[in-house]
Amino acid sequence: MNAEGRARLNQMPEWTALAKHREELGEVRLRELFAADPGRGTGYTLQVGDLYVDYSKHLVTDETLRLLRDLAAATDVFGLRDAMFRGEKINVTENRAVLHVALRAARDAVIEVDGENVVPKVHAVLDRMSDFAERVRSGAWTGHTGRRIRNVVNIGIGGSDLGPAMAYEALRPFTDRSLTVRFVSNVDGSDLHEAVRDLDPAETLFIVASKTFTTIETVTNATSARNWLLSGLGAGQEAVARHFVALSTNAEKVAGFGIDPAHMFEFWDWVGGRYSYDSAIGLSLMIAIGPDRFREMLDGFRIVDEHFRNAASEANAPLILGLLGIWYGNFLGAQTHAVLPYSHYLSKFTAYLQQLDMESNGKSVQRDGEPVQWQTGPVVWGTPGTNGQHAYYQLIHQGTKLIPADLIGFVNPVGELDDELKAQHDLLMANLFAQGQALAFGKTAEEVRAEGVPEEQVPHRTFRGNHPTTTILATELTPSVLGQLVALYEHKVFVQGAIWNIDSFDQWGVELGKVLAQRVEPALTEGAEVPGLDPSTAALVAAYRDLRK
Ligand code: F6P
Repeated sequence: MNAEGRARLNQMPEWTALAKHREELGEVRLRELFAADPGRGTGYTLQVGDLYVDYSKHLVTDETLRLLRDLAAATDVFGLRDAMFRGEKINVTENRAVLHVALRAARDAVIEVDGENVVPKVHAVLDRMSDFAERVRSGAWTGHTGRRIRNVVNIGIGGSDLGPAMAYEALRPFTDRSLTVRFVSNVDGSDLHEAVRDLDPAETLFIVASKTFTTIETVTNATSARNWLLSGLGAGQEAVARHFVALSTNAEKVAGFGIDPAHMFEFWDWVGGRYSYDSAIGLSLMIAIGPDRFREMLDGFRIVDEHFRNAASEANAPLILGLLGIWYGNFLGAQTHAVLPYSHYLSKFTAYLQQLDMESNGKSVQRDGEPVQWQTGPVVWGTPGTNGQHAYYQLIHQGTKLIPADLIGFVNPVGELDDELKAQHDLLMANLFAQGQALAFGKTAEEVRAEGVPEEQVPHRTFRGNHPTTTILATELTPSVLGQLVALYEHKVFVQGAIWNIDSFDQWGVELGKVLAQRVEPALTEGAEVPGLDPSTAALVAAYRDLRK
């Protein structure tokens, strides 16, 4: 038993039952599973809002799924879910509620934190954002010299960058094409340089996005951006008000930077950075797509929130996807999970999920501080198909590793494609379906021989198959569908963290590097001695100093 009265995960009978089942099952073959039950292709599917989720190509039987659901029940995943929706402080190490679900709650919903209903605050900020976004889009909001804003540059990092940057790419067909929208995150000055080098400061709005407003990368870039603006305009500090707004929880620091708190769009400590792009952090996206589309996206999130909250475990998509990840990571030894969207517009989706999943579940102590004795979050990786097919799919098909993957595709293309480009969509999707089939069923040596392949080449041209995939299909990539997809992954990550008994909502692992970077910097810039550097790092710093121009 741990401090919360929960038995250790790997001592639970439900865990032991899964381990035994895995042994008894031996090497389960997808070919055999489908031969025994051809109905599996439709039976192991779910419809969640607009998402059709096919999990038939997984190395599981009905019994596996039942045992996994038993584990979810024993670890009280739904109990923690309900505690989250009730606003309880389930982020134990930071003593905070976890309420990204409140960001997309209906106006009349009631979700309380410390006895206060937070939903009216959420909608008040959304209304202010909408008003501001409309003013920028219509030209009513002008810069210091009276010119309308044509460029929007979001400065933020991690959750204050990846979400809006991903969603801006994903929803490009819905954006106002007369606006230039860019995202600066890296403290490498080249990032800001490339973002602003062809922009006119008189027409540029900077959105400084930082929950804490202390993140060194963001504050540094925002300071450089302010200098670029003021020197470009030949103006004084008074120009900042028309060209800088802030998205933050920290009004004091925002004011300290010189941004009028009236131009700060607020969110709250119960919104984790990686769960925040549907909060004020989404302002750049809202300006790009407009408030109505932004609200459609929130509606999409809500569809999946309600599904997660209400669907029975047999039909609960985030639960099932989370459990499949547990099966592979904890019982079949998989270390990674690939997310492979067959959509150019989802080019940043996997990078976004990397933070969502890996910053949430990259933990090795339990909620009570005891070390875990089981694997936790996977390495999440991937790029859009079909590009990946010509790069690393070789390893998935014929390498030695088990790599569960998600294939995400859309029935119809979006945007103003001409007929010829529209027709390419069928080829794109043919690749998705073909990959799912090839990964699952491979090609046997007999099949290869039957094609007349010389015997010495048969082993090289045989595909073992049995690589598991989930296929997620939607009609088209709309704002609502994007919200649904993101919420699906958010809740999947939640399910896994709940089972592993880790705090999915803190991120202490990023702190040490931050502190050390601040300690090392004076050694690079001022040649100061840094006490306590290890010999390797000290030698690197010395080499850097020698070569510095
Ligand atoms: O990398 C750590 C982290 O705190 C992330 O969780 C967060 O999204 C990012 O830094 C940016 O933080 P902030 O929004 O406070 O600038």
